[in-house]
Amino acid sequence: MVVLRTEPVTIGGVTLNNHLLLAAGVLGTTGASLSRVLACGAGGVVTKSIGPQPKDGHAGPCIALLDDGILNAMGLPNPSREFTGELSGLGSKPVIVSIFGGDPEEFAEVAGWFKGMAAGLELNLSCPHAEGYGASIGVNPDLVEKCTRAVSTLGMPTWVKLTPNVTDITAIGKAAERGGASAIVAVNTVKAMRISTALRRPVLGNRYGGLSGEAIFPVAVRCVYELYEACSLPIIGCGGISSADNVIEMMMAGACAVEIGSAVQKHDITVFETIKNDLYAKKGIDPAEIIGCAHG
Ligand SMILES: Cc1cc2nc3c(=O)[nH]c(=O)nc-3n(C[C@H](O)[C@H](O)[C@H](O)COP(=O)(O)O)c2cc1C
Repeated sequence: MVVLRTEPVTIGGVTLNNHLLLAAGVLGTTGASLSRVLACGAGGVVTKSIGPQPKDGHAGPCIALLDDGILNAMGLPNPSREFTGELSGLGSKPVIVSIFGGDPEEFAEVAGWFKGMAAGLELNLSCPHAEGYGASIGVNPDLVEKCTRAVSTLGMPTWVKLTPNVTDITAIGKAAERGGASAIVAVNTVKAMRISTALRRPVLGNRYGGLSGEAIFPVAVRCVYELYEACSLPIIGCGGISSADNVIEMMMAGACAVEIGSAVQKHDITVFETIKNDLYAKKGIDPAEIIGCAHG
């Protein structure tokens, strides 16, 4: 397997300790948990998504564990502006705050709360189970461009997280690029559902949810590959990554860093250290040699 050399990297305006980030919504709910994930080897962390008003999320069950993934419909529960208090102890650590809103004005409002408090912002334009938010906006290139511009003009690094639940993800990536994004994150969960045959009802309280974990890795690789051909922004690969070889494959598709979510829930927080040990060596190669090398 290809092994990379160890060094800090700057991606989309954010300097990370390594190429592995914690994905949004998974463990990133308090300042203490974010610190712990960084101490356990993550190169950066993305918080849970924060919106304009406090939200309880959907009625349960909100999570179903499957053989090769997780089905969730959390419904974006978050404490809204109060979350700023969680960031005060994190100083200049590589913390990216995930935010959402229902329109460009709400995105700008929430982004403004975090100015100077985080290394960057990630716009959740992709959650598949929150009406009026996330993918409801993220399937529309015009709205993606406007929401991105509303935040990017504030001057913080602005990452835009895309949904795979569209016919042409490159049209959405290009819209984020026009709006002034610093990087694209691909992808959020795949819209999905399961039905309990015993109960004759959908397993999730919200009926529909988002599928994550190993099952969606090929979808995520395909999205990154297509975006690399169409956009010139740095791409952060996300979806089903659980090994160093998966990281290398994502990089070959065109990603210059990755986010990891479900594997943290499945294997616990040590997954970062495990992947790091397999991925890096002093005499490893420059990642630039492999990023996008599967194209041509
Ligand atoms: C329980 C759970 C909660 C999530 N919450 C968020 C969230 O708040 N914001 C967001 O942008 N993505 C959220 N996601 C999506 C993940 O950040 C990630 O995009 C997705 O799970 C695919 O990566 P993975 O297969 O490594 O988990 C959540 C995923 C899970 C499983």
